[in-house]
Amino acid sequence: MSLLDRAVSLLLPAVPKPIVRHFSSRYIAGPAVEDAFRVVRELRRDGAMATLDILGEFIGSPQEAEMNTAAYEELARRIAAEGLSETNISVKLTALGLLLEPELCLENLRRLLSTAQGLGNFVRIDMEDSRCTDATLAVYRTLRREFPRSVGIVLQSRLRRTLRDTEDLCVEPANFRLCKGIYLEPRAIAYTDPELIRRSFVLALEEMLRKGAYVGIATHDEVLVWESLRLVREFGLSRERYEFQMLLGVDEELRRILLGAGQRLRVYVPYGEHWYPYSVRRLRENPQIAGYALRAMFRGA
Ligand code: FDA
Repeated sequence: MSLLDRAVSLLLPAVPKPIVRHFSSRYIAGPAVEDAFRVVRELRRDGAMATLDILGEFIGSPQEAEMNTAAYEELARRIAAEGLSETNISVKLTALGLLLEPELCLENLRRLLSTAQGLGNFVRIDMEDSRCTDATLAVYRTLRREFPRSVGIVLQSRLRRTLRDTEDLCVEPANFRLCKGIYLEPRAIAYTDPELIRRSFVLALEEMLRKGAYVGIATHDEVLVWESLRLVREFGLSRERYEFQMLLGVDEELRRILLGAGQRLRVYVPYGEHWYPYSVRRLRENPQIAGYALRAMFRGA
């Protein structure tokens, strides 16, 4: 992390929430489910698919986990009712109780998957920080046996363990999203050199494709997009075997380039009242915009 990035990371929590909200509004559909569906329809007009995420993680009680599960089930029903069948769902297991009681989380996700499968939908389990990796993979392993076509997982190329996890998970049919990983992890378990994170991404992707897994290639890094297209070509893959994935509000030009080239592309659309932690993570990734937020604070805007 550069000195500037480190300074931005340290200072962001001091920025008043209204300023963070202003600068992060490009990354979030809005507070309500209607906002999310408006964005999904806009994306659809541009030829892109979407995955919907209800913001809110690291909850404090089983009751909150229950409320979140019910909210996700309702979302699956709304997607079906709106006729947006290619739109799927992304969920963080801490929102369903992973750090409270893994068994409760497993039951909550089982319930959500049962609803989603009944409606022909698909649920992607987001990957959180390294405290959650083992427990998240254990839940995925259990439930993909019960819902083989309705659940997928995320792996992060930043983690040193990822190639091993890829090999282990590919023993059975798997559906991955591969990304670099947003959480800053200690060097003992994660690559810190950006070039190594990239090389680890390419290696894991190659292994996934070789083993016949479906992959959501989640990146805005054009070098990785190029490497991915190279692998797709080498393996002679048809369009149905993979998709590109990008975050709402990030590099819309690259999104248009990929769609224009006939690639399938899905945009991650977060929405909901609990927008703050997500916003801070996105702003940390973009020191330029985070810098605007800090300057706005000092100017008293
Ligand atoms: P990189 O960070 O190098 O960015 C490449 C370029 O993209 C930058 O140069 C910049 O131009 C642009 N860019 C990136 N971030 C930006 C921002 N916030 N604002 C403006 N421009 C920006 N992580 C995780 O740990 N668990 C998860 O489950 C997921 N899920 C997920 C889903 C999807 C669909 C995507 C695209 C990403 C994730 N991530 C994630 C986040 C991911 O791990 C990673 O942090 C970001 O995608 C940024 O990494 P890039 O590969 O885009 O490269």
